[in-house]
Amino acid sequence: MCGIVGYIGKKEAYPILIEGLSALEYRGYDSAGIAMVDSTGLTIYKDKGKVDRLKEITRSIEKEKGAIGIAHTRWATHGAPSKVNSHPHTDDKERIALVHNGIIENYSILKDRLKEEGIEFRSETDTEVLAQLVGKYYENDLAAAVRRALADVEGTFGIAVVAKDQPEVIVAARRGSPLVVGVGDNELLLASDASAIVRHTKTVIYLKDNNLIELHRDGIYHTTTLENVQITPELHQLEYDAESLAKGGFEHFMLKEIFEQPQTIKNALRGRLLIAEGTARLDGLNIVHQELRSIERIIFVACGTSWHAALVGEYMIEDIAGIPVEVEYASEFRYRNPIIGPNTLVFVISQSGETADTLAALREASHKGATVLGICNAVGSSIARETHGGVYLHAGPEIGVASTKAFTSQLTVLSLLTLLLGRMRRISHSDGMTIANALQAIPSQVEQILKQNVKVKEIARIYHHHSNFLYLGRSYNFPVALEGALKLKEISYVHAEGYPAAEMKHGPIALIDKEMPSVVLAIKDSIYDKVISNIQEVKARGGSVIAIANEGDCEIEKHARHVIYIPKTIPILSPLLSVIPLQLLAYHIAAMRGCEIDQPRNLAKSVTVE
Ligand code: F6R
Repeated sequence: MCGIVGYIGKKEAYPILIEGLSALEYRGYDSAGIAMVDSTGLTIYKDKGKVDRLKEITRSIEKEKGAIGIAHTRWATHGAPSKVNSHPHTDDKERIALVHNGIIENYSILKDRLKEEGIEFRSETDTEVLAQLVGKYYENDLAAAVRRALADVEGTFGIAVVAKDQPEVIVAARRGSPLVVGVGDNELLLASDASAIVRHTKTVIYLKDNNLIELHRDGIYHTTTLENVQITPELHQLEYDAESLAKGGFEHFMLKEIFEQPQTIKNALRGRLLIAEGTARLDGLNIVHQELRSIERIIFVACGTSWHAALVGEYMIEDIAGIPVEVEYASEFRYRNPIIGPNTLVFVISQSGETADTLAALREASHKGATVLGICNAVGSSIARETHGGVYLHAGPEIGVASTKAFTSQLTVLSLLTLLLGRMRRISHSDGMTIANALQAIPSQVEQILKQNVKVKEIARIYHHHSNFLYLGRSYNFPVALEGALKLKEISYVHAEGYPAAEMKHGPIALIDKEMPSVVLAIKDSIYDKVISNIQEVKARGGSVIAIANEGDCEIEKHARHVIYIPKTIPILSPLLSVIPLQLLAYHIAAMRGCEIDQPRNLAKSVTVE
């Protein structure tokens, strides 16, 4: 969602802040702003629009030196995107400036109270309330004022604050919204996401919830709880470098990330697949085998694409390991009263590791006494830190808003988990080896599918003007149908529905006509013939069918207008292959419609608010 950057050190703050904002634009981007402090006071620039707009209005200050600063890209929650609603916000005396990620839930009560005290508000945002509170309490000790203000607020925040008369300090604090501090050579950086600072340092502190940090110009920092108890934060090393944040010759991050998948799947498998034993090892689970063997139920909790991966996980684990699995939307789970028995294992799945609903669900499951494990991509993220153990995807930073490589890495990790649990309970050594060998072959099979990019593009050219699409799949490929439809709608703004193919006749079949193409996952498995019948039903109503089918399937061309062939694998792994053409199809349709693929409207990469 919104992005925060801060800098304090001996270099010029402005270019570092702008570069950091550009790196964060993928998170949220309806407005941007910057506040800098030096001996002459506080300067704020902000406007509606992208970081380029901020660059335009700050062109004249580019040569200013030595200031410390904080900056922000906004994804609107309270108040429409506008200059006045953009961050930084100040108190009414303009003594302090503040940027904020998160939501102040009691802002309305606080605003009324402050108004009664004569404080004038300029914006419609919840953030301004926090800025006014800090201003109200400010008496030359910025950290003390921030602490007092935060004691009044309910909700979530990641904030950075500067004061006009203190050009020597930035104060930052968090509850529920991530903040990472970069520790450089006599300089400190601050960001809501490490990608904004990795160009400057790889040594970081992940600020913990309810912690506050004071950053000083000479590289010294001081960390406390919000109650002012001193703490010594741990230093971590970032695992990736600045190159992985570049497009590497691809037109969009999404396309680059689609093409990275042979490698990212290999990364997820590395050191975890034990071919000779026909099993897997996942040391990060931090669970002894005895405990794994006694599990009676698994609950997967996730949102969006990660939820689709979880659904595939349900099919796999029930099929191979015989453990009952439930898949929950994190946003529902957190407000229900879920029943979690003694032998229930909860897995939260999240690429970013910061999704607010998933984090809240994790905490709810922990409160109920469950062992909660994570499947995350972002190392050191809140979810990764709060779970009892877990598995990292090692897919590298995913910048495109539409998740692609994280999805296939999640599927890879879920396959490894299935193999591990399956071997402990139900399947033989030889069945385990079949799965392990099939998994090992997946990266090169993905590579083969990617060679058909041009063919997929041709199909996209035929259909890119259509306004409605149906995605149909069954069994393991039903979640892939959901994922294909999500990819298309989020980046091309075309209406698309994913459905279990046989459910079509219970409603969506009414939509089918020659204007509504259906993308059908017709993989050769035990229910292939049934899927062919579903294709016939579409055809009989004048609908065109784009089929994803296995190489060597001679039958399918009789039924579908277009066929994209993928290599054959075992049924449980077929989603790892069948999703690739759907990612490419969505990408090309969006590109042909002139959409902003890496930054689709209204969406943000990491959904850190409810
Ligand atoms: C879709 C997409 C989103 C995310 C969802 C959960 O392409 O990216 O649906 O999957 O917001 O995000 P994470 O996995 O970071 O928790």
